[in-house]
Amino acid sequence: MKRHPSLIPLSHDHHDALVVAQGLILGRSKAPRSDWPTARRAQVDRVVAFFAQTLWSHFEVEEAHLFPAVIAHLPGAADLVGQLLDEHDAMRTRIRDLERDPTTDLDVRLPSLGRLLDAHVRREERVLFATMQREMDPADLESLGTRLRRRAPDGASCRLSSTVANTRADTR
Ligand SMILES: [Fe+2]
Ligand SMILES: [Fe+2]
Repeated sequence: MKRHPSLIPLSHDHHDALVVAQGLILGRSKAPRSDWPTARRAQVDRVVAFFAQTLWSHFEVEEAHLFPAVIAHLPGAADLVGQLLDEHDAMRTRIRDLERDPTTDLDVRLPSLGRLLDAHVRREERVLFATMQREMDPADLESLGTRLRRRAPDGASCRLSSTVANTRADTR
């Protein structure tokens, strides 16, 4: 299914997240020119940095704008949103654990985090976004897209990662 323009900024982040998830699951990258490190300890730094640069703000935007819109317009998706929120919290906990202890059991903890991230992103893309595009009023999708775009500081980047400062300022 072609992604609705309103959801494309989130889908861009999802693409990057799936690449990181594969690196965590496999312990290496499948892309020949990737600079993904092979050392597990170095992968901890990379995934912690990816969360800081991209996923913390991505989660905040989803929780502030995407999920409330889904609950308002698709009440039947409340359980799905609850599951997605639990997954956000689980990943936040895993990242904080890696920051506290970046050395123990990495061959277990990193693939496990990768599988969680992979499953979460696929659930949002294949279940949540697909349901939204199928069942939400196009005008409601458009207005959600406007709210998501307002988070982007300028037209130069469609990514949400640079919007964390705006989002945090708004929620204070
Ligand atoms: Fe999410
Ligand atoms: Fe997401």
